[in-house]
This record gives sequence, C-alpha cells and structure tokens, in this order.
Amino acid sequence: MRILGIESSCDETAAAVIEDGTKILSNVVATSLEMHAKTGGIIPENAARQQVKSIIPVIKEALLTTSTQPLVPNIDAIAVTIGPGLIGSLLVGVETAKTLAYIWNKPIIPVNHLIAHIYANWLTANSNQSSVISNPKFPALALVVSGGHTDLVLMKDHGKLEYLGGTRDDAAGEAFDKCARLLGLPYPGGPSISTEAGKALGTRLLGTSKLNLFPRPLINEKTFDWSFSGLKTAVAREVKGKKLKEKEKQRLAAEVQEAIVDVLVDKTISAVEKYKPKSLLLAGGVAANTRLRKKMEYGISNMENDVKLFIPEPKFCTDNAAVIASCAFFHNHPIPWQKISANPELTITSEI
Ligand code: KG4
Ligand code: ZN
Repeated sequence: MRILGIESSCDETAAAVIEDGTKILSNVVATSLEMHAKTGGIIPENAARQQVKSIIPVIKEALLTTSTQPLVPNIDAIAVTIGPGLIGSLLVGVETAKTLAYIWNKPIIPVNHLIAHIYANWLTANSNQSSVISNPKFPALALVVSGGHTDLVLMKDHGKLEYLGGTRDDAAGEAFDKCARLLGLPYPGGPSISTEAGKALGTRLLGTSKLNLFPRPLINEKTFDWSFSGLKTAVAREVKGKKLKEKEKQRLAAEVQEAIVDVLVDKTISAVEKYKPKSLLLAGGVAANTRLRKKMEYGISNMENDVKLFIPEPKFCTDNAAVIASCAFFHNHPIPWQKISANPELTITSEI
C-alpha cells in the first residue's frame, strides 16, 4: 500500500510516499528555519505563510518520484498531520490534503504528529543504513521529545498507548531553544547548544562528567514527569549582567545540555526498570541530540533488562512526512474528508 504523507505542523513543509509503512519511495522536506533564525524564533504567521508557498511544490516533488504525472498519482491513500502544532501551519496541510483526497477520490487518514514521531524507529530499522534488521517489538517504551512536547508512553501495540508521564511545563526542545537564546546562540537552540557543548566536552568520558551547575528538577520524585521551566530561570540568573566569552558559552551550553539529558535518561531508565519493555524507542527533534543518544545507550548497556534500544537516524527525528505516512499505514483508519479538521491541542493519547 502506497501512502502520500503530508506534514505542515510547524516550520517544515514535507511530503513523502511510503510503501507498506517502511519503504521510502520519496521524502521531501522544505524548511523555513533560516527565516526564523533571523527573528530568533518562530513567528506563527510567518511560518503559515511559508507553508502556503511550499506545500504544492513539495507535494509535486514527492509524487514525481513515484508517478510521471503528479496529477494522476500512483498512491492508495493520503495521510496528513491534523495536530498538535500551530493552527495556521496545520490548516495549510489539512486543507490541501482534503482537497487532494476529494479530487483524486482517495481515502484520507488523519495522523497525530506526536505518535507519528515514534515511527521514525520503524523507518530507521528498515533503511539501508541501519544495522538493526528487525522492527521494534511490543511492549515498547517510547520517549517523544520535541519542540512542543515531552511524553513517555508505553506502547502495547500499534494504536494502544498508555501515558506514563510528561513535562509539567516547558518541553525539552523548548528548554534547549530558550536557554540557547539566553546564551546568545542562534535558533534553533538544540543544534546550537549541542555544537557548542561538543567543543567544551571534547572526548570527555560519559560516566565521569562533572557537569552539575544547573538543577535536575523532579529527579528524585517517583513519577515519570519532567519540569524544564526552572532551568531557563537558572540560566537567566547565571548569565545576568555578564558578557560571555566563547569558552564560557561553550561550558554553559554543556551544562544546559547535561541538565536536560540527565533527567530524560534517568526517568526513562526508571521506566524501563518498572515496565520491562522489549524495546525502547527515542523520537522527536531532541532525539537527534548526540549526548542524549550516547547517554541513553550507556544507561541501557548497564542494565540487566533485555531491552533493545532503537535510535532513529537524525533526519527522521526532526519533522518530516515519512513518519506521517508510516504511522498512517499502522493506524489505517480513513475517515471522510468532510470530518477532518486541524486540532492544535491534540495530545499523544487523544482519540482521532
Ligand atoms: O520534533 P521537532 O522537529 O519539531 C516539533 O515537533 O517540535 O523538534 C524540534 C525541536 C527544537 O526545539 C530543536 O531545538 C530540537 O528539536 N532539536 C534538538 C536537536 N535538533 C533539534 N535538540 C537538541 N539537540 C539537537 N541536536
Ligand atoms: Zn515534530
């Protein structure tokens, strides 16, 4: 089954054609990131306008690799992100998908963007570059860490998710972005902090790092919840009135990254101990973070549990439409296009 996926929830406009959930026939992403770097963050109105400009060319390009004529597409269904995200951006993808479903007479499958992020692991397991040859097995524990959300869920099967915990305030990606701004590093903050932190860390061994300037909120609390808003305040206090030199910026970037990564890894490992899943899946833009990937690997390797860790290729961590089409294949519930609408408030366990 060939599915055309469409993603427009934030500042990426993406389309992809995926066969049977894992085979990538095309995967096109246009980003308005450079424009947002100039304003130091996303202005929703600007992002939505950019979506309007990019959506048709991006879909056309994705279809051209599978059919000589995009006007008669060689696909079986259309999948589209309906939420969560920025309403203006979401509307562009949703209304385009509905129009195409109507004129091409194809079924349309609405997709929850947060659940879709998890399918980066199925795509990676089946990609040429992967050393992993099998798909994730259930029950699976998934850590979804993105710009707007931080959620830990237990997946008993496709479509059967139990919410274990999440952030009580800022998301992990948001914490990276806000702290980067305070350090005078460019948007998006996650990659900037990661690069600067890398310069300070060098080849420092994982187990021996002594980066503990900033607090690790809720780390001793027996829930699977996080809180990241205090970190922003702590960084603001640390840099107040200072003109940071390069080396100091790098050291603080490493401190910020370590504070975020430590709590993410600590709670996730506790959840592995408690729920004993067969697979642990990382997902979302923050899962592209090298330190998080390494520390999670290190944490899991020291456990007795027989859990397999899946880490998606970085290009599948950040927003793309391949995960949207993949998710739709495993949750194939088309609904009439008239009943589909964008929902910016969707949560990871919302029924669609
Ligand atoms: O999943 P995503 O692409 O979009 C949302 O659904 O939000 O995640 C974007 C977030 C941003 O906050 C960005 O700073 C963060 O992911 N991010 C990273 C890295 N790459 C992207 N955070 C830390 N390290 C990275 N390498
Ligand atoms: Zn995302």
